[in-house]
Amino acid sequence: MRAVRFHDYSGLSGLRYEEAPKPVPRDNEVLIRVHAAGVNPFDRYAIEGYVNQYVQFQLPAVLGRDVSGVIEQVGADVRDFKIGDAVYGQTDPISHGTFADYTCMEDFRVAKKPEFLSHIEAASLPNVLLAAWDGLFSSESGLNLQPGQTVLIHGAAGGIGSVAVQLAKWRGAIVIGTASTANVAWLQELNIAVALDYSSPDWQTKAGRVDGVLDTATGEMAEQLCALIKPGGAYVGLRGALPAEFIEKQKAASVRCATASGPASIHEYPQMAAAVEQKVVKPLINAVYPMAQFHDALQRITERHTRGKIVLQLIE
Ligand SMILES: NC(=O)c1ccc[n+]([C@@H]2O[C@H](COP(=O)([O-])OP(=O)(O)OC[C@H]3O[C@@H](n4cnc5c(N)ncnc54)[C@H](OP(=O)(O)O)[C@@H]3O)[C@@H](O)[C@H]2O)c1
Repeated sequence: MRAVRFHDYSGLSGLRYEEAPKPVPRDNEVLIRVHAAGVNPFDRYAIEGYVNQYVQFQLPAVLGRDVSGVIEQVGADVRDFKIGDAVYGQTDPISHGTFADYTCMEDFRVAKKPEFLSHIEAASLPNVLLAAWDGLFSSESGLNLQPGQTVLIHGAAGGIGSVAVQLAKWRGAIVIGTASTANVAWLQELNIAVALDYSSPDWQTKAGRVDGVLDTATGEMAEQLCALIKPGGAYVGLRGALPAEFIEKQKAASVRCATASGPASIHEYPQMAAAVEQKVVKPLINAVYPMAQFHDALQRITERHTRGKIVLQLIE
């Protein structure tokens, strides 16, 4: 099969679209013919070695985690899926990648694709759905968001942000979102309560006081964002562990700090898939590239200003 693989951690220049062995499903895995693969910041971090402390890749490794496609083979222990099922999900990056003709996935990582979604739309969802769900709803690594609460989503137009806006509204929260000047009008189209331009000098005053903040950006604004949170509220980041000193300082102001973990919420993937089935979350696609243009897609994700998601397509 053909696959986009990295042989070292030299970044984009080290990627090769080349012949690679077709994966063989283990007993609890399905083999998927890939139709589309979502692109995430993680993919860029992976090829630059930034995630080596969490993920020990076996090089050469196939890049990519999000997928939508059709099952071609099922392992001996798989009960809930059969050959021909259209499915979508997120792989375990240590074992398998998705920028390839085929990938394998453990059955608990897979959900049946609703017929009303295209493979491109379905492939855009798993990673951001897992992260937004955990960041908003987990009582430990997330905000534990409750109906009627006000949540500020910093970086609300990106992949995670735009899904988080929809999930938070579904939960019955009042949603304030921030975006760059170019993306504010687009954010307003998501029927958000308040859309703020984070480059305007008075946006924090306009935001007022909130019960929780989901920070999808770099965390550089964490201090200022925490200042907007009411006592008893929470700040959740997405970019790795927060410094202990920072957490203690916020604790003294009765603000709980946490880091969301998409992978940790994989056991709740069936509930997420049910929400997709109920049209709670609408996939928002910024751009679609043929697999051969993986460089352009990864370059685009590096710029950090997408509206919704970037997806690679293999089969129309
Ligand atoms: N912890 C986890 O389990 C987990 C899981 C998945 C992803 N992540 C991480 O979460 C982060 C976001 O992922 P994503 O898929 O949503 O990325 P993305 O689609 O690239 O979105 C990036 C967001 O950052 C915003 N942004 C860029 N510069 C900003 C600035 N100076 N101030 C405020 N916001 C700014 C962008 O808004 P504008 O375009 O409007 O500027 C956009 O909304 C990434 O770092 C990713 O690695 C963590």
